[in-house]
Amino acid sequence: MNLILLGPPGAGKGTQAKRLEEKFSIAQLSTGDMLRAEVSSGSELGKEAKQLMDAGQLVPDSLVIGIISSRIDDEDCKNGFILDGFPRTEAQAEALDEMLASKSLKLDSVIQLAVDEEALVGRVTGRYTCAECGNGYHDEFQKPEVEGVCDNCGSKEFKRRADDNEDTVRTRLKAYHDQTAPIIPYYEAKGLMGRVDGMADIEDVTKQLEKILEAA
Ligand code: AP5
Ligand code: MG
Ligand code: ZN
Repeated sequence: MNLILLGPPGAGKGTQAKRLEEKFSIAQLSTGDMLRAEVSSGSELGKEAKQLMDAGQLVPDSLVIGIISSRIDDEDCKNGFILDGFPRTEAQAEALDEMLASKSLKLDSVIQLAVDEEALVGRVTGRYTCAECGNGYHDEFQKPEVEGVCDNCGSKEFKRRADDNEDTVRTRLKAYHDQTAPIIPYYEAKGLMGRVDGMADIEDVTKQLEKILEAA
């Protein structure tokens, strides 16, 4: 099963992709995570991406298209994948179609996480992850069971993203409206577009997604 999770910053794409990854044994492909790994490694690609990411702007299409195209060939994608944060422009959506056709693959579903934008700034600025295993948390909505200790691996070190401040979130939201939202009609025209209520509790959003995927 191959699907796209679509939604603005803080909509819950990463949170839900991780949960579906386990349940359906398919790979989460987050271009944001891949770019952050490039930034930490200090690669040329990372250097090019960092400035734009820190400013809340999109990186060039060619850069993410190249990353995704080689990643889809990996062994863990054999059963399918969840695209989290890609495609984000019309050019990326078209490139994805070409890429999938050339690999004899197809998309099963594109699901939009519908959210109230007023809530997003709070979601993003309260977010943090385990520095060891990457498990995601939130100051208010998703605390570890034991304060200061990762539920998944027991690490006591956590980190926050450089772009998770209020100003950058607003720029990212604008980029979403200007550059990403226009791909919704592209997928509607193909009859692939689904929608879930992203304002429900995390567990409830997962249930809505599972229902769509089990029917697909
Ligand atoms: P990326 O990493 O993709 O960031 P984003 O799209 O801004 O989305 P986020 O990761 O912030 O949000 P999310 O929807 O994953 O929310 P999460 O589940 O964490 O991209 C970063 C940057 O990389 C871009 O700005 C751009 O520069 C570059 N980039 C990446 N891909 C690109 C591309 N294709 N083209 C060009 N540039 C690209 O949830 C947020 C928080 O809310 C968490 O703490 C979570 O616990 C909490 N939460 C989640 N769901 C709920 C819920 N239902 N109720 C309450 N709290 C919830
Ligand atoms: Mg994310
Ligand atoms: Zn951990």
